[in-house]
Amino acid sequence: MAITGLIFVGFILAHMYGNLMIFAGEEAFDEYAEHLRELLTPMLPYGGALWILRIVLLASLVGHAYAAFALWSRAGKARKSRYAVSGVAKSLFVSKAMRWGGVALLLFLVFHILHFTTNTIQINGDFDSPAARLVSSFEVWWAVGIYTLAVLALGMHLLHGVWGAGMTLGLNTSIAAAERLRIAAVLIAVVTVVGFLLPPFAILFGIIP
Ligand code: HEM
Repeated sequence: MAITGLIFVGFILAHMYGNLMIFAGEEAFDEYAEHLRELLTPMLPYGGALWILRIVLLASLVGHAYAAFALWSRAGKARKSRYAVSGVAKSLFVSKAMRWGGVALLLFLVFHILHFTTNTIQINGDFDSPAARLVSSFEVWWAVGIYTLAVLALGMHLLHGVWGAGMTLGLNTSIAAAERLRIAAVLIAVVTVVGFLLPPFAILFGIIP
């Protein structure tokens, strides 16, 4: 769960950085999308590096979901009655939020790929250029709403997930180290949420024409 989760964190930060290219203009964004496909050519065929990344992400997703459902069913078998202590109630809430937040992110991912990658869902017109798809979509308030909800769910997931991954990997060797881990989790979650939400809101409010 921890290792596949950290692979996602790396991808998410890179993806967020890539999206910010839209502030450099539509041409720069399209050039960046094209470069992703030309990565490592001619050693790999056109689009080859992107396919390797997709396969790694898909394998990580299968591993992450398998681990989640295994833990889910193990937790369900371990305890049928309610806990009386309030701290336990809080951790039960967090684990429920992680599970349902994860399911929501999975559903969002299906929508997201149909929207931006395959162009099956067209929100505000049909465009070949990835930048034009991005800008036209986020001129629509409810599209910004869907992406905002998904990014907030991602932020919540990261907040606990990064911290949990650090604990699993044994990074909490002292109280100070555990505190640093908590700060790192908050930083990663905040940077992700702000970085992902900047382009949609800048487009909605006409800052990016
Ligand atoms: C405001 C938020 C987001 C925007 C504007 C955005 C935008 C995009 C765009 C434009 C593409 C297509 C790139 C191309 O084909 O050239 C893409 C691909 C992708 N996005 Fe996002 N994204 C956002 C959030 C997310 C989130 C939160 C996740 C993960 C939970 C995510 C996961 C992916 C994945 C996995 C792909 C690659 C799909 C593929 O090519 O196979 N994105 N995104």
